[in-house]
Amino acid sequence: MADNSTPTISAGKLHSKVTIVTGGASGIGEATARRFANHGARAVVIADVQDEKGREVAASIGLHRCAYVHCDVSDEAQVKSLVDHTVRTYGRLDVMFSNAGTASESEQTVLDLDISALDRLFAVSTRGMAACVKHAARAMVEGGIRGSVVCTASTFGRLGSDKLTDYTMSKHAVVGLVRSASLQLGKYGIRVNAVSPGPIMTPMLRKVFGEGPGVEKLVDAMVSLKGGGRLAAESVADAVVFLGSDESEFVTGHDLAVDGGFIQQQLEIRLLRRVLEAMLDVRLPGYNDNDGNSKHYRNRPVN
Ligand SMILES: NC(=O)c1ccc[n+]([C@@H]2O[C@H](COP(=O)([O-])OP(=O)(O)OC[C@H]3O[C@@H](n4cnc5c(N)ncnc54)[C@H](O)[C@@H]3O)[C@@H](O)[C@H]2O)c1
Repeated sequence: MADNSTPTISAGKLHSKVTIVTGGASGIGEATARRFANHGARAVVIADVQDEKGREVAASIGLHRCAYVHCDVSDEAQVKSLVDHTVRTYGRLDVMFSNAGTASESEQTVLDLDISALDRLFAVSTRGMAACVKHAARAMVEGGIRGSVVCTASTFGRLGSDKLTDYTMSKHAVVGLVRSASLQLGKYGIRVNAVSPGPIMTPMLRKVFGEGPGVEKLVDAMVSLKGGGRLAAESVADAVVFLGSDESEFVTGHDLAVDGGFIQQQLEIRLLRRVLEAMLDVRLPGYNDNDGNSKHYRNRPVN
């Protein structure tokens, strides 16, 4: 299993690069901030709204190369100021990891979609993502930097879902953003890619699934790749290091799934389920099951 401190790939891939990680106080962002530092980044700027946690993570990485900046990505002015501050302090921006996101507030289908809740989720996970790509790209264009932008999408950006409609929509939008920005920014030598993590037990997923051995078992069952421990934030961080580094110099417009086979398994399970239901003329229970009742959000597994 990937560990927290030691890079699993050779060091120095981000040598002397100036980087930003949004949502870097926790989960996938925190793991990536640590990996960036381990891989020789000159500066890692953690941007988050959890000030205490963000400062702690920055201090544990080392304040000589890591800083915390409060930034609510849903506010474009704060995103611009984050990027301006980074360029002013370190002279340039090479890598933007736009990762901050939030979970759905309920497990809604389209029939009980709460549009205000959708707006709140989109403000962070879609508009925030767009603001980060926009201002990072502007700084790179202005500085003549052939930089790399990586956005966190999701397996929910690849498949329709029986529930969590707002989250699914927001992640599809992230993939559209990445594909369009990669086309538009290619002429400046700027690459734009996405990573799509499978289920990883971060605070966000715990909010959706709850906690306990049963939940961990379920998450393990969702991936088809066995024998290497549980899918972890560090595995996604390794993929982001690759996409941020010169090793991926001709990779752009790509959505790299780090999902342990989750997407493929979902496609097969869904097909099998439909076939069985048709053959047996029954409605099978399962983790795609949905009763349209958003009160049961916590502790109910999602697809
Ligand atoms: N954990 C998973 O299974 C999973 C799977 C697929 C995609 N993702 C995506 O990965 C990304 C990171 O999530 P995570 O699982 O590490 O969760 P997490 O809760 O551990 O981390 C999310 C971070 O984003 C920060 N954040 C939230 N709103 C913000 C805002 N307005 N401005 C700035 N920062 C903000 C939070 O404070 C937190 O530190 C999200 O975009 C999420 O959708 C997670």
